[in-house]
Amino acid sequence: MKTLVTGGAGFIGSAVVPTLQKEGHDVYVYDNLSFGSRDFIDINDDHFYLGDIRDKAAVDKAIGEIKPDMIVHLAAIHFIPYCNEHPFEAADTNIRGTMNILSAAEKLPELKKFFFASTAAVYPIYDDAVSEEHEVHPLDIYGLSKLTGEHLCKRFNLETGIDTIVCRFFNAFGPNETNPHLIPEIEKQLREGKRTINLGNLTPKRDFIHTHDMANAVRLLLNLKDVGYDTFNLGRGIEYSVVEIVEAFERQLNEKIKIEVDPARVRKVERQHLLADVSKLKKVAGWEPVWGIDEGIKNLIDNWG
Ligand SMILES: NC(=O)c1ccc[n+]([C@@H]2O[C@H](COP(=O)([O-])OP(=O)(O)OC[C@H]3O[C@@H](n4cnc5c(N)ncnc54)[C@H](O)[C@@H]3O)[C@@H](O)[C@H]2O)c1
Repeated sequence: MKTLVTGGAGFIGSAVVPTLQKEGHDVYVYDNLSFGSRDFIDINDDHFYLGDIRDKAAVDKAIGEIKPDMIVHLAAIHFIPYCNEHPFEAADTNIRGTMNILSAAEKLPELKKFFFASTAAVYPIYDDAVSEEHEVHPLDIYGLSKLTGEHLCKRFNLETGIDTIVCRFFNAFGPNETNPHLIPEIEKQLREGKRTINLGNLTPKRDFIHTHDMANAVRLLLNLKDVGYDTFNLGRGIEYSVVEIVEAFERQLNEKIKIEVDPARVRKVERQHLLADVSKLKKVAGWEPVWGIDEGIKNLIDNWG
């Protein structure tokens, strides 16, 4: 099974690629290394394509050469503050880039499955767990670009009949983080020796899921037969506030950590909750998360070196 992972050298890709390799997939990666790194994955030069998904000719050439049986499309710009500051770049990468990948995929008679990494940011603010049935209504350019990607995937499935899976990722955590999200920011300050750390909003809760559990879900979803077009949430199903994440670090370090609110980091508009209902993924794919927050944070600290 030849499987192409776009963005495979990134944070989540660095967990997905080895998981699929272990499962026996012959994995190819297409990545421009703008955020990712080749050091995150073990891939031969003849299986790695350095290229931009916005470059249609390069995408057509690579996909035409590889002729994958499956495509896992992870490449995107996704750090929300960066997307807000660079809306055209985000839209160009996440929409035009996805159109290029889909257009090359349409020409592959052997393609069996297309997997698209979408996001929880397609949902508006809800106070309870969100299921795939909840209405979508993105609040920012990132969520909007990903929702457009979902619509493009739907059209792709209607036109080709190829099984197409849209997976809405919630907040990933784990090794090889490429963007300054909450957990790497806490790590950075703690690694500098600080035990009073500066953070922004403390009360918002997020559904943190370890990248190893995510990779396992991707693996199981790729094994599903006769999917047609379907959408799955991928989160842990538990939400943690910023304070609770810092407390998990305290437990693992066995040290007290003080938090100071830095007004420059406080977001004026902020969701208070973002929690996934993952019952569909569990039921349909037989997926169960195994990494808890304490275990995941312990693993990060163990690798500080
Ligand atoms: N990390 C999260 O919490 C999270 C949450 C929801 C959805 N997602 C989605 O999951 C996917 C992977 O995210 P990630 O956290 O691993 O991010 P990441 O930035 O680490 O990975 C994206 C990869 O795509 C590559 N890339 C970016 N622009 C490209 C371009 N124009 N051409 C080719 N390659 C390009 C980067 O070099 C990187 O290796 C993305 O689609 C993202 O939107 C992530």
